Amino acid sequence: MSLKKYIRDIQGFPKEGIVFKDITPLLIDANARKECLEILVSAVKDKKIDKVIGVESRGFFFGMLLAQELNVGFVPVRKPNKLPFDTISASYDLEYGTDTLEIHIDAIQKGDRVLIHDDVLATGGTAKAVCELVERLGGVIVQCNFLMEITFLNGREKIAGNEIFAAITY
Ligand code: PRP
Ligand code: MG
Repeated sequence: MSLKKYIRDIQGFPKEGIVFKDITPLLIDANARKECLEILVSAVKDKKIDKVIGVESRGFFFGMLLAQELNVGFVPVRKPNKLPFDTISASYDLEYGTDTLEIHIDAIQKGDRVLIHDDVLATGGTAKAVCELVERLGGVIVQCNFLMEITFLNGREKIAGNEIFAAITY
């Protein structure tokens, strides 16, 4: 099954000139979703993951499925002022301005083997900030995995040195 069939291009969303990759057709189809999960899981088999991080918000969908399937803890990395306990934060550049992500200080223990999951690797700014958070808490990044990678944006250069896996590439 080609998973690309389940990613829908939306022209001009969220603004003109952008082609948005809509994953909702993949989420709504139980078989496609299962196959996608299996692909992501097989890429980390035998890598002894302790925790899966899902990045708000679209990284939550498969992040939680991955944690469940691997039978390990799930850790949300969230946008500012959403997490209630003590946090550390990391900022990253957007086209205009910056954005920030936060993690609970007790979410990762020193030496934890961490799988970072998000739906898309585009410019890599988001993933880089998440890597920084994990490293500051003493976690070991085992893999950064994504439903899809938009290769021409060279996001993997920003997180070079880490193992990167994407189920679908464009
Ligand atoms: C999107 C996407 C990734 C990120 C990828 O999230 O879900 O998290 O951008 O882009 P980058 O590699 O250039 O950083 P967004 O911040 O739009 O928010 P959402 O997941 O809450 O929709
Ligand atoms: Mg996102």
